[in-house]
Amino acid sequence: MLTFDELKSIFLDYINDNHFDEEPIGLYHPVNYLMNLPGKRIRPVACLMTANIFKEDISSALPIAYSIEMFHNFTLMHDDIMDDADLRRSNETVHIKYNVNTAILSGDLMMIMSYKHLIECCDNLVLKDKILRLFTNTAIEVCEGQQYDMDFETQDDVSISRYLLMIKLKTAVLVAATFKAGAIIGGASDEDTDNLYKYGLNLGLAFQIQDDILDTYGDQNTFGKKIGGDIVQNKKTYLYLKSLEMADKESADRLKAIYNNTDIPEVEKIKKVKLIFDNLNIKEQADKLVAELTENAMDHFNAISVPDEKLIEIKKLAEFLLKRSL
Ligand code: IPE
Ligand code: IPE
Ligand code: MG
Ligand code: MG
Ligand code: MG
Repeated sequence: MLTFDELKSIFLDYINDNHFDEEPIGLYHPVNYLMNLPGKRIRPVACLMTANIFKEDISSALPIAYSIEMFHNFTLMHDDIMDDADLRRSNETVHIKYNVNTAILSGDLMMIMSYKHLIECCDNLVLKDKILRLFTNTAIEVCEGQQYDMDFETQDDVSISRYLLMIKLKTAVLVAATFKAGAIIGGASDEDTDNLYKYGLNLGLAFQIQDDILDTYGDQNTFGKKIGGDIVQNKKTYLYLKSLEMADKESADRLKAIYNNTDIPEVEKIKKVKLIFDNLNIKEQADKLVAELTENAMDHFNAISVPDEKLIEIKKLAEFLLKRSL
C-alpha cells in the first residue's frame, strides 16, 4: 500500500506533467498559480488511496484524482470571489492577484478541464459512464450547496439541520464522490463502493465543521486563510447556530445584532462574536460533533469487506483530517 506522502508526491508530479503552457497566458497562468499553491491534496490522495485498496496499479485513477482536484480548485477560485476572501493557501486569491473577471473565466476553464480529464480517464466505457454521472450529479449538488451558503448569510431562521444539508451539498458530497470514484475505478463491489461513499459523506461533514472551527479558532499562518472571515461574512456556521441554540435570550439577541451589523469594524466584530462563542464553550460543542460524525464515518469504513492491513493508510487519513490545523 502506498502512503499518503507517496501518493501526494505521485499526484504533484502529475500536476507538473499537466502544467499549462498554452496561450492566452491571462487565462492559463491563474490556473497554474492556484493548482500549484500548497493545498493539502486530500481529495486526490483519497481517490488514489481508495483505488489502491482494490488495485495495485493506480494509473487509471490519476486522471480522476486530477479532475477532482481541478474541480475543487475551481470551486475555491469562485468561492473566494463570493466570500470576498483575500487569502488562500497563505497566498493572494486569484481575484486579488489578477482580477475578478480573470477568476471567473479561469475558474470556468478549470471546471471544463476537470471534465476533459474525466472523459479521457479510462477505456472501460461502463466505468467511465458511472464516474461521469457521479461527477456530474455531485457538481450540481456543490452549486446548490454554495447557493444555500450565500442565501443563509441574509437569513435569520437557519436551523442546524438546514446548515447540515448545506454543508453536505457544498462540501461533503465531493469528498464522498472522491472515495466512490476511487472505489469504482479500483473495481470494488457495489456494497464496498456504497460504504465508501457514506464514509466520505460523514467525513466530509466533519471536515467542513472543522473548517468552520478553524476559521474562528485556527492560526492564520498554518490555516492559510484569514481568521474570522466567516464571522465578517455573516456565515451561518455551526459555531454561530449552536451558540444561538445554547445562549439565553439576551446573549442570543446580542449575537444576532452583532452578526448582522455591517457598520462595526471587522476586528471588533470578530472579537465580540468570539467572546460570545467562548462564553458558551462552543468550540467544545463543535469538536464533539466532529468526533461523532467521524465515528459515523468509521462505522461505514469498518463495514468494508477488505483485510484490515489494506486499510491502514486510509484510516490514518481520517485521523489526520480530524486532528488537522490546516
Ligand atoms: C477548502 O478545502 C474548502 C472546504 C471544503 C472546506 P481544503 O481544506 O481541502 O483546501 P485545500 O485544497 O487543502 O487548500
Ligand atoms: C467551501 O466553503 C465550499 C466550497 C468551496 C464549495 P468555504 O467557503 O467554507 O471554504 P473556504 O473556507 O473558503 O476554504
Ligand atoms: Mg464559501
Ligand atoms: Mg470561502
Ligand atoms: Mg471555510
